Amino acid sequence: MKNKKIREIVKRKNKKPIVCLTAYSKTIAEILDKYCDIVLVGDSLGMVLYGMKSTRRVTLDMMINHAKGVKKGISKSILVIDMPYRTYRNKKEAYKNAKKIIKSTKCDALKLEGGKKIINIIKYLVNKNIPVMGHIGLLPQSERGKFKFKGRSSFERKRIIEDSRLLSNAGVFAIVIECVEENLAKIISKSTPVPTIGIGASKYCDGQILVTDDLLGLSNFTPRFVRKYSNIKKIIDKSVLRFSHDVINKNFPSRKNIY
Ligand code: KIV
Repeated sequence: MKNKKIREIVKRKNKKPIVCLTAYSKTIAEILDKYCDIVLVGDSLGMVLYGMKSTRRVTLDMMINHAKGVKKGISKSILVIDMPYRTYRNKKEAYKNAKKIIKSTKCDALKLEGGKKIINIIKYLVNKNIPVMGHIGLLPQSERGKFKFKGRSSFERKRIIEDSRLLSNAGVFAIVIECVEENLAKIISKSTPVPTIGIGASKYCDGQILVTDDLLGLSNFTPRFVRKYSNIKKIIDKSVLRFSHDVINKNFPSRKNIY
């Protein structure tokens, strides 16, 4: 693998936990870059920023545009970009779109959702020297209905363990495990040679990721796996209320704000 930063991340397996968060803009990326090992431009932006019902209508152009902004805010972290739904249905399509994302954003790696079903596509990209991050467990692009944690039945558990095995054999440099039962996450993390990054997948993973808007309290989404570190929504609400009062009462602009 050519990318030094990615080689360093692989070495962090069972060592210092890996810190990952999502960013959709330069402003947020600049802050995350100080503290994160990996910054992900997730296709969650469809739901979080655009109010879509799922991530399925996110386009390649949306991802590229946001990623270009994020890249400007990053100097040290690894920049990973999600390949959106229906942009990697076969090897040819995946390679063409992967090259387009990398060329226009200068990102370090791409993330694709799925295991066995897309394993030949992942192998193909890795063989073309494209660093790939896997994503197993709950797969938002494939879910129809409410998001529920995975690993309830032994069939499902076996399938997810098999997915992790296939992905690491295919050469992914890390695997996101989303919303799986704690013991299953522990088994996968122990048996997988590459770092596992959990979201709702217990402390046994080698790193953790959250959607930044969720931890800031900016989104309305608070599943049990999210810890809210602030309530930015309240702060914005108060600021906008004060601005509206100032405008109505002619307290803004003041002498300081005019030319
Ligand atoms: O789209 C996204 O933000 C993600 C993370 C939640 C892992 O895939």
